[in-house]
Amino acid sequence: MATIGLIGSGTIGGTLARLAVDHGHRVVLSNSRGPGTLGDLVAELGPDARADTAEGAAAAGDVVVVTIPLGNYRQVPVEPLRGKVVVDTNNYYPQRDGRIAELDDGTTTSSELLQAHLPESRVVKAFNHIQAGHLADHGTPAGTPGRRALAVAGDDDEARAVVAALVEGFGFDVVDLGPLAEGWRVQPGTPGYGPELDAEGLRRAAAEAHRSRDTA
Ligand SMILES: NC(=O)c1ccc[n+]([C@@H]2O[C@H](COP(=O)([O-])OP(=O)(O)OC[C@H]3O[C@@H](n4cnc5c(N)ncnc54)[C@H](OP(=O)(O)O)[C@@H]3O)[C@@H](O)[C@H]2O)c1
Repeated sequence: MATIGLIGSGTIGGTLARLAVDHGHRVVLSNSRGPGTLGDLVAELGPDARADTAEGAAAAGDVVVVTIPLGNYRQVPVEPLRGKVVVDTNNYYPQRDGRIAELDDGTTTSSELLQAHLPESRVVKAFNHIQAGHLADHGTPAGTPGRRALAVAGDDDEARAVVAALVEGFGFDVVDLGPLAEGWRVQPGTPGYGPELDAEGLRRAAAEAHRSRDTA
């Protein structure tokens, strides 16, 4: 049993929290408004869930998921995440997040921005290219024909393996994209973003992706 900290407990964070509890983990939820606003979700998840501040969730988690509107990434607490595996589900939607020049000009990618903000954490991009509803419903046992696959990308091999084990445990094959800089291959606007693909299909989609201003 691990403790999963969540910075952001909305559509995707809440779904990941449910999956984590269903798979025997503890969760510590947080949001921007404070733990007092998360009572309903904590009650629904049961005794393995509690709410805290973002700093508290970051400190409590063995693995911490950052799942917030990307535009707020600079608000993610740095110090309590030092040395930790940080899962990044975030995507860049300029209409929601505001324009981010380094993403618009392709200088970097959204997960590398989070990694730069958390220089001593081990950021792994995961769960960004699947809708929350599908994440909740599409998991199947290993070996199921056509099993849906999800990508992971990150610079630290051990961290990528930790997150891959979570993805696998939640019912999905894993496609390892390698370093964080390759994460753009499953960003909005790429063929791997959204559709239900098995491992072979997702590998092909990632290989065929073209980088553009909208896929940073
Ligand atoms: N929805 C999906 O199906 C899906 C799938 C894959 C990836 N994503 C990506 O994952 C991220 C989260 O998406 P979502 O749909 O879950 O968003 P959402 O439903 O709007 O939830 C966002 C959560 O982040 C919290 N938050 C915002 N700023 C924060 C901060 N500074 N510190 C701590 N918590 C903060 C919000 O708390 P408050 O409510 O208190 O502000 C809320 O709990 C986005 O980048 C999105 O593009 C979404």
